[in-house]
Amino acid sequence: MDNLKQLKEDGYTLLKDVFPKSTMIEWREHLVEYFSHKKNRCEVENWLTTKPDAINYKEFDLHLDFFKSQKLISLLKEACGGDLKYAHHYDTHIDVAPGKFHHDGGIRHLAWKWNENQIKTYLKEKYDLTIQELCKTNSWKEYNKVFEDTNHKYLVKGEELLVYRVGTYLQDHSKNEAGLHVLKGSHRKPHSECESVYIPSEIGDVVIWDCRVFHRAGGKGGKRCFVHTAFGKPNFLLDLYSEATQARVTKQNQKSEYVMRDKFKKVLDKMGVMY
Ligand SMILES: [Fe+2]
Repeated sequence: MDNLKQLKEDGYTLLKDVFPKSTMIEWREHLVEYFSHKKNRCEVENWLTTKPDAINYKEFDLHLDFFKSQKLISLLKEACGGDLKYAHHYDTHIDVAPGKFHHDGGIRHLAWKWNENQIKTYLKEKYDLTIQELCKTNSWKEYNKVFEDTNHKYLVKGEELLVYRVGTYLQDHSKNEAGLHVLKGSHRKPHSECESVYIPSEIGDVVIWDCRVFHRAGGKGGKRCFVHTAFGKPNFLLDLYSEATQARVTKQNQKSEYVMRDKFKKVLDKMGVMY
């Protein structure tokens, strides 16, 4: 099946040979060295070996190449219906591997900065939305569950939450099952009805999954390096997703506000990706 068709029907795909293997090995060496210093780890996550929003830090200039692949960006534009917008997510990590099937419901990250009442007020004031319209429940607690089908399989005011998570492993996972597992089709169907599939990726390949698709990491250890970002179809739901992600990374990095680097903006401008 071709990549676009698979992405739409099954909610995931493996795009082969996007980045040169030698570049990925260079990224890997850099990441291992970077996280060998405790100060570079995430203090608010108990010194976890993760750097959220890494692309906006000069130490990660190397990674600007992630956004320069015409092959990747063209596929994503097609999948999103033409225009493509960066979803303000770029995480790097070593041995951070959620082993339980979950979805990446980004809007829930608004809880990094607000309580339930503040979220409800904000949705009403900025988007004229009730939480019932957005989440199909009036309770944030009911909605904020990554292991359940609270993954936006429905339209909101005629719009779809269409966000693609895009990742690359900096080591081979074609001969083991420590890479990405997905529940095929769970962006559309209840996840309990979906078949579990392993995606065997080689260095330089890119795994893409719909943020609504249930997925899990196959294993950790051995300095398992993973880098992932997100893009989506421009609409108000993507903006909400991005705002939530920005709230998360700003807190994780102990910053007062989210700032995009000009150097990064220039790359996106050149590739015709909105932000
Ligand atoms: Fe995830």
